[in-house]
Amino acid sequence: MSGQIPEEFILDLRHRADIVEVIRDYVRLNKQGQNYKGLCPFHAEKTPSFVVSPHKQIFHCFGCGKGGNVFSFIMEKNALSFPDAVAYVAKKYGVEMPRKAVSPAQAKQNSLRKRYQHINELAANFYQNVLQGNLGRDALAYLRRRGLSAETVEKFLLGYAPDGWDHLVRYLNQEGVSPEEMITLGLASRSKTGNLIDRFRNRVMFPICDLRGKVIGFGGRVMDDNQPKYLNSPDTPLFNKGKNLYGLNLARGDIRNMDQAIIMEGYMDVISAYQHGITNAVGALGTALTPEQVRLLMRFTYNIATCFDSDTAGQEATLRGIDVLQKLGCRINIVQIPDGKDPDDFLKMVGAEEFKLLVKKAPTYLEYKLQSLMDKYETDTIQGKVQIVQMLVEDIRQVHSPVARQAFIQKVSEELSIPESTIHAELRKVQTLSDASRQTEPAGRRRVKHSASTKAERNVLRIIFENPQLIEKVEENGGKDLFIDPIYKEIYQSYYLLLQAGHNIKANDLISLIDNPEAQQVLPELLLEEEHQDTERVFQDCLTNLVLEGLNRTINEKSSLMSKLEEAGDISSSVEVMAQIQQLVREKQRLSATLRKGGDKI
Ligand code: CTP
Ligand code: MN
Repeated sequence: MSGQIPEEFILDLRHRADIVEVIRDYVRLNKQGQNYKGLCPFHAEKTPSFVVSPHKQIFHCFGCGKGGNVFSFIMEKNALSFPDAVAYVAKKYGVEMPRKAVSPAQAKQNSLRKRYQHINELAANFYQNVLQGNLGRDALAYLRRRGLSAETVEKFLLGYAPDGWDHLVRYLNQEGVSPEEMITLGLASRSKTGNLIDRFRNRVMFPICDLRGKVIGFGGRVMDDNQPKYLNSPDTPLFNKGKNLYGLNLARGDIRNMDQAIIMEGYMDVISAYQHGITNAVGALGTALTPEQVRLLMRFTYNIATCFDSDTAGQEATLRGIDVLQKLGCRINIVQIPDGKDPDDFLKMVGAEEFKLLVKKAPTYLEYKLQSLMDKYETDTIQGKVQIVQMLVEDIRQVHSPVARQAFIQKVSEELSIPESTIHAELRKVQTLSDASRQTEPAGRRRVKHSASTKAERNVLRIIFENPQLIEKVEENGGKDLFIDPIYKEIYQSYYLLLQAGHNIKANDLISLIDNPEAQQVLPELLLEEEHQDTERVFQDCLTNLVLEGLNRTINEKSSLMSKLEEAGDISSSVEVMAQIQQLVREKQRLSATLRKGGDKI
């Protein structure tokens, strides 16, 4: 995760920086006990659930689950990469960044990237110039007919790929671009006869930019009814459709300012929205919304409105899209455009103010789902109502905030005229089911109550973070093999190895050092857990519990081995294994006796 910056530098800077001081540049914090509290900058809330611990140098929001150390905070807040966040903090504390040591392979990679970016820029400029020249007259007229101003055309770098086989090829050739490079970037291809020909011909060109505004690919639209209507760049070293959002480079600032993004389907929707003053819209590039796209957007806001076309395809895209958004924990609103129009049509025919109203009044995910279920099932029979509730409980359960959850339960109860207690009863049913299947459901990690052995794992980790010398005891008793949950195992092992390597690290350093997003999520929450009075005793009991769990696992394995040996007729081996099992069981009894009363319930 540290990339090219030396770990020592990162640790040193982390110790020098004060997370409270850094976060105070963004959030008003009030002291509360040992910690500071404030309104979470990552989600909208009225009561503070954002906690910063000066002692542990971490933050965690109990509302949205975001957490981390000083670097994670700056990364999230300013949408920076890790190295850039380190540089930001270094600057704040007047520390000079170490010079980067770039490996030859990386250097080559970087220069290749630059070269490709340069070629794309040449192509984009070429298309832009053609649009403004003689050959582009019809294309420009087309864009004007569609209502785009000269300013908008320029802002979105729109261009025109002229009719003919090799206008761009000849231009790029003249600029010293090789045929291989043109093909790699999806700007040209070989014809059946082996000639190098332009990929985009007689199309209005929409350059697609990355976050920093560099052209990474193109979409090209025909100006009549020919097919395909849009032709896009293929996947190239710079471009991948499912990983980018059209217009994000222009919208990112306002998305952050307004704390909301609107996802639309098409190029023209986003451009038209922008021209109408709706400057927080991005385009999904005609794909079903992907998790990568959503994560990209979540660097700027958690409030995401979908505004897909109101045709059937658009409605299907809405459903699939909200599924992805929901899984990643966004707050979703669904903007529905009436009468089968797309946002571009609506804006042109009805106007920006009406559109903004649609966005403002857009139902939340749950309201939308309730509405579509009520359209689909009977609402005047008990069975119909129960069916609807059953299809909603899983979603209700996922609502973090108890207040929001209760408000929605009330709404469902009112809309369906059924008592709230019925909904609560259905909720309890899923709750028990999901507790039983938790092992196979790591996605629910944050929300579920922890089982006894999970608690023991978490306690042991938290205590050794505070008291590194205790790690010896864990090692004596089996080390990483004591941990069942792979994420705790990984956290333990990374911590152990770093200590072994002689690093004087604090637990929150791990957040930067472990290259695993799940660990980065789990750690702050774990570190902020209540501390027990009697640390030594709790530690010993938890450790004993983990050892006992381990013994149980071994005993189970040995038992099934014993049965297999018996079945195979290998009696002497089977007797040997039985003796081992007896030994283990005695060990278990001895250990259990050492647990303090009730210690097995930690
Ligand atoms: N799309 C695509 N390839 C196609 C058709 C569509 O990549 N053959 C993508 C484009 O990003 C397009 C989006 O899907 O912008 C939405 O398609 P559609 O609704 O058909 O187009 P509009 O955006 O409405 O385009 P226009 O208004 O120019 O007709
Ligand atoms: Mn359209």
